[in-house]
Amino acid sequence: MTRLPSLLLAFFSFFVFAASQATGAGREVQTSDFGKTSEGVSVHRYVLTNNKGAEAVVINYGATLVSLKVPDRNGKTADVVLGYDTLEGYELGKSYFGATIGRYGNRIARGEFSLDGTVFHLPRNDGPNSLHGGMRGFNKRVWAAVARSRADAQVLELSYTSPDGEEGYPGTVKAKVTYTLPAETNELRIDYSATTDKDTVINLTNHSYFNLSGDASKEIVGHELLLRAPQFTPVDATLIPTGELRAVRGTPFDFTKPTAIGARINQDDEQLKFGRGYDHNWVLEKPAETGLQLVAEVFEPTSGRLLEVLTTEPGIQFYSGNFLDGTAKGKGGQLYARRTGFCLETQHFPDSPNHPNFPSTVLKPGESYRTSTVLRFSTRK
Ligand code: GLA
Repeated sequence: MTRLPSLLLAFFSFFVFAASQATGAGREVQTSDFGKTSEGVSVHRYVLTNNKGAEAVVINYGATLVSLKVPDRNGKTADVVLGYDTLEGYELGKSYFGATIGRYGNRIARGEFSLDGTVFHLPRNDGPNSLHGGMRGFNKRVWAAVARSRADAQVLELSYTSPDGEEGYPGTVKAKVTYTLPAETNELRIDYSATTDKDTVINLTNHSYFNLSGDASKEIVGHELLLRAPQFTPVDATLIPTGELRAVRGTPFDFTKPTAIGARINQDDEQLKFGRGYDHNWVLEKPAETGLQLVAEVFEPTSGRLLEVLTTEPGIQFYSGNFLDGTAKGKGGQLYARRTGFCLETQHFPDSPNHPNFPSTVLKPGESYRTSTVLRFSTRK
């Protein structure tokens, strides 16, 4: 190559680079160390950014969303999810902050289910029941991460292979979770996929706790919630669904019109007592068309932040942070008190393997499990 063309090439490359930096297109996810697990495995921190002021930080321990910054109505950005500053926090934590939950989101009664005539036994880690995948679910595993950003979005793909029999579940499950932050929209898309080599059950979700005020010292009771859900699944005293689909109308579970989370939370209601507040699965209204549907909206009046949740899933666990008790030392030293974060876990219904009338969570070899959830942020006056 002669000197002139190579100089031209250098100039051209510089302009392409500068343009991509300016628009955010083609920028890659920023990676740094996040320490070593107690077993000595290195964990990384991945920062996804866009052109609209949003930033999502994910670690490959538990495929966990550790921070999510979005602007308020004045353009001021703040972190709207709870979490820890250190890997040790996530390793020892019991609240599932931001984690990917698997193999089975929420409870399986008595840690037992039968499939194809065989009874499977799971660890009972929540009273008599098995919760969120057992003693060491997907939230406590190190995932493999690869950045797969496109011109219009930053993308992080995380994979984990769960061996046959892990935490009592049958089949080798290959799971993938992909976080996508578009360059021009403040929404975080989470795509889940999985395959198995034996019949099994699966129910993946994300367990982020939101406080849209950006200040986790404040309770979330003033957030206004809308759930496009005509029914919920009532539970017994151990939070296992009874199998009934109950109409929300006329109960404190009716969020079909925007209502403050705290408006009815302390009412004398058996279901609220069982959960010590809201900790229930809502049955989402399913329009005829398939694909992502807008199922929940949460508005925080002081900051003006609005979160819209879209999902392909049939249910959503709305948990009002009732078990947070001020002992978890979170980001910036904040002690997270009761009801300072809420979760909207898009999912299949809890304990589905023991309820033939619930949508099935069975996954068979040759099938592919696929679900998606989008967290869309904007502001209102
Ligand atoms: C889910 C459960 C709650 C609680 C949290 C984690 O939302 O339904 O009961 O266990 O996870 O603390």
